[in-house]
Amino acid sequence: MSRPTVVHLDTNALRHNLERVRHLMPGTKVWAVVKANSYGHGMIKALEGLSGTDGFALLDLAEAKVLREQGWQGPILLLEGLFTQEDVFEALELGCDCVVHELNQVDWLENAMEARQSAQTLHPETLRVFLKMNTGMNRLGLKPASYREVFHRLHAVGFNVAHMTHFANADYVDRTPTVDQQLEVFQSTIAGLSGETSLSNSAAILWHHHLVQCDWVRPGIMLYGVSPSGKYEDIEHAQLQAAMSLRTKIIGIQHLEAGESVGYGSRYRTDVPIRIAVIACGYADGYPRHAPDGTPVWIAGPGGLSNGKICPIAGQVSMDMITVDITDMPHAEVGTEVELWGHYLPVDRVAQAAGTIGYELLCAIASRVKRS
Ligand SMILES: Cc1ncc(COP(=O)(O)O)c(C=O)c1O
Repeated sequence: MSRPTVVHLDTNALRHNLERVRHLMPGTKVWAVVKANSYGHGMIKALEGLSGTDGFALLDLAEAKVLREQGWQGPILLLEGLFTQEDVFEALELGCDCVVHELNQVDWLENAMEARQSAQTLHPETLRVFLKMNTGMNRLGLKPASYREVFHRLHAVGFNVAHMTHFANADYVDRTPTVDQQLEVFQSTIAGLSGETSLSNSAAILWHHHLVQCDWVRPGIMLYGVSPSGKYEDIEHAQLQAAMSLRTKIIGIQHLEAGESVGYGSRYRTDVPIRIAVIACGYADGYPRHAPDGTPVWIAGPGGLSNGKICPIAGQVSMDMITVDITDMPHAEVGTEVELWGHYLPVDRVAQAAGTIGYELLCAIASRVKRS
């Protein structure tokens, strides 16, 4: 028997979540964000579930290549743009659109134009540029003061230039810069300039869709059925469905007497007799080592996972195993199915217990975990 630790991917959930984006943003084109191997879901499966998108946004040329090899012929956006001068030519060959957020990228594009136009092999209008404005997040992007000048430089060499920014606080109500403040900076800076716009991430789509209108939205986490705020209730309210379920089985049972402890460091001690399930998943599979006692795990009931129940982690997560208190599940035995997160147990709940966010847990799934 092979190790039972598996990620199940529900491509129908991806399709459903994309429909929810379309419902919230009618008439707006969608860049489905699939960076980090589709937030840990696997690019190829994600392509299957999200093929109804208008384009895919991802990190670099290596990811773009995977999509092209899988037969995707539509738009691809490189979210951090070019990393070297040579990238310009590869981006052109792969037919990628590029974010431009730094002046060195502008230089590379201009140099490439000079080199290739003289050889008559480059047509700048075939490479669309999404010029990124720093409207207050202070991560990537040009400050408004230099934005228009750079726009005109790129326009002058013939590029099709679109405008883009990224919101810092679309999932907060009490932090600045607010979505309104960033939007105001963005709109006043591009006033009178031609070109499409791209603004909203998942949080802005979910909570600011009446306010923020643009040509392209860029949803990531909501496509996978996970909350940008970290609160599961938000996902329920938005009618999104979890695409990834991380599952395994019980591989051992221990009966502890009062006063005994479990695992490394004897972190969990019991003062009553308990039953412990040892399950085949650990931090080498991507489960967070820092998950404290009490972190929820879904243990299948007598009829399977659908009538299962939450049981608490008891003891330090180790490399390949987790120990769970199953005293309340007398039917549970070696071979009983377990869900670490997914369809029955939202990843947001596990992330909350472990002091992190769903994004991090999804992206951390290790390559040794099988996928179905
Ligand atoms: C520029 C940009 N747009 C969109 C997204 C998608 O964000 P989310 O997954 O929160 O929807 C990201 C993700 O980090 C991003 O960096």
